[in-house]
Amino acid sequence: MVDHFPFKSALVTGGGGFIGSHLVERLLKLNVKVTCLDNFSGGKMENISTYIDNPLLTVAKADITDYDGIVDLFKGIEIVFHQAVSKNSVCLINPRLDLRTNAEGTFNVLEASRTHGVKKIVHASTGSVYGEPRYVPEDELHPTEPVSFYGTSKLAAEKYGMVFRQLYGMDVSVLRYFHVYGPRQEDNDYGGVVSIFIRRALNGLPPIIFGDGSQIRSFTYVADVVKANLLVACSPAASGEIYNCASGLKIPIRRLADIVLEQLGRSDLRIQYSGWKPGDIKNFDISNDKIKNIGMSFDWDFEQGVAATVQWLRGKYGGQAG
Ligand SMILES: NC(=O)c1ccc[n+]([C@@H]2O[C@H](COP(=O)([O-])OP(=O)(O)OC[C@H]3O[C@@H](n4cnc5c(N)ncnc54)[C@H](O)[C@@H]3O)[C@@H](O)[C@H]2O)c1
Repeated sequence: MVDHFPFKSALVTGGGGFIGSHLVERLLKLNVKVTCLDNFSGGKMENISTYIDNPLLTVAKADITDYDGIVDLFKGIEIVFHQAVSKNSVCLINPRLDLRTNAEGTFNVLEASRTHGVKKIVHASTGSVYGEPRYVPEDELHPTEPVSFYGTSKLAAEKYGMVFRQLYGMDVSVLRYFHVYGPRQEDNDYGGVVSIFIRRALNGLPPIIFGDGSQIRSFTYVADVVKANLLVACSPAASGEIYNCASGLKIPIRRLADIVLEQLGRSDLRIQYSGWKPGDIKNFDISNDKIKNIGMSFDWDFEQGVAATVQWLRGKYGGQAG
């Protein structure tokens, strides 16, 4: 836990989205003045609506691909948490949007931060920058050979961050997230697998597994991701560093399906199996030693995180799934 958060003002890009809204919430609880910058293409106002009357919160509907439209929002900001992203699901349909949002958008965020002397930038990246594992467990020195437009644009974003650091001495840190799940994650068919399985089971539908369910994910609960962001923000040793932000859990998808059915008392639903998804990486075995070495602990066990997500989705649907 962060005892003392040294920044008084923060800007969260993508603050209306899944992870961004949890960060906004946590920062407000730390009495930080927060600007939530989001174009609400994927994010939702309702994700932050509980705090809308909080005088510490400013919501700016703006687009990170429009430099002139965002630059003034960075005035007076001490720290930026850059979460905005073009949805993974659009990357095959519109890879150019991916490039613009994730690479050029990040460039704009960095440039605006430089213009206004932002002290620290924590950049959200992804395990997709690695591509196929060459060895396991994958640490931060693993080659980066992304196999998707999304991973490629996110890798470019990381590189821009490091170049801004080298050229202008900016304090940039990168967190590579893996399989984040929890309340507010999209539960439509493009959303996260945990939320999809829960939504389906709430609706009396069985989970559908692509492949045989043996594929392993390092599911990481959103509160732990927020914790990692605050830790990296406050650790001088994290400047210029890249960290895997993964719980280190190794959960087969089949186990996830069983847990969801158990927790919802729907063991009567028979899991359905479909063909493997092309390009599906079978085994995520991720080293989190580096971030643990600066004091991170991943506190949420998987069943506890699934239970919290079930509770939230029950509330969202009032007992009825959509
Ligand atoms: N969720 C995961 O499992 C996961 C895994 C790896 C990495 N990440 C990274 O975490 C970050 C947050 O992801 P998330 O899951 O919360 O996604 P999300 O889609 O819920 O949130 C992204 C937010 O960015 C906003 N946005 C999109 N384009 C924008 C633009 N041009 N200008 C301003 N705002 C824009 C969206 O409206 C949305 O609110 C991303 O950088 C993503 O790459 C997430």
